[in-house]
Amino acid sequence: MKFLVNVSIAAVAITLVTGGLVLAQQSGSLATLRGTDIVVESTPPTFAGIEEGRQVRNYRQQPPIIPHNIGNYQIDLRTNQCLSCHDWTNAGDRGAPTLSMTHYLDRNGTQLDTVAGTRWFCNQCHVPQADIPALVGNDFRPSSNSN
Ligand code: HEC
Ligand code: HEC
Repeated sequence: MKFLVNVSIAAVAITLVTGGLVLAQQSGSLATLRGTDIVVESTPPTFAGIEEGRQVRNYRQQPPIIPHNIGNYQIDLRTNQCLSCHDWTNAGDRGAPTLSMTHYLDRNGTQLDTVAGTRWFCNQCHVPQADIPALVGNDFRPSSNSN
């Protein structure tokens, strides 16, 4: 009985080791997206430039596209530089649109004076646009516009 158990453990071990070897071999021939060696840290290509100017939403509920560069605006656990222009306390002075009032509701629907935690990481929903070839084709149409 003990022998049998040992044999099956050995079988599992062999499977794991050969599996590992196969994986290691495969990663040796992995093609990286930027075409550089996998251990070399590559420099990302520079952006073509952010499109400025507000854009029409593609569907009614779409988070509006960010019409300006956001490269310098930090968002982390403590800091959110977007709020220095978009929070209701600053927007008037900065000439920026105020955060939508939905952004001041917590998940129970309670009205808050500061932006809700669920809306803290703005670029979960809002993104700038750049005029570059699309990575993936898309023929989306909003429901009111589909024939
Ligand atoms: C220096 C001030 C400033 C900062 C900081 C800033 N914005 Fe803006 N933002 C503006 C202004 C001004 C506009 C209006 C631009 C226009 O109308 O063309 C705007 C427009 C927008 C809009 C479009 C709203 C709409 O209804 O079309 C979004 C979304 C937005 N910003 C998101 C962000 C996010 C996210 C950040 C942080 C990553 C950020 N902004 C940081 C000034 C700022
Ligand atoms: C969970 C997704 C989500 C997050 C996170 C989020 N937004 Fe929005 N935002 C939306 C949607 C959807 C709208 C449009 C509908 C609405 O007004 O609620 C919107 C609207 C806006 C508008 C337009 C307001 C107007 O009345 O024209 C601004 C400006 C904006 N957001 C900025 C921000 C900023 C800055 C942050 C981060 C502090 C942020 N949003 C976080 C989804 C989000």
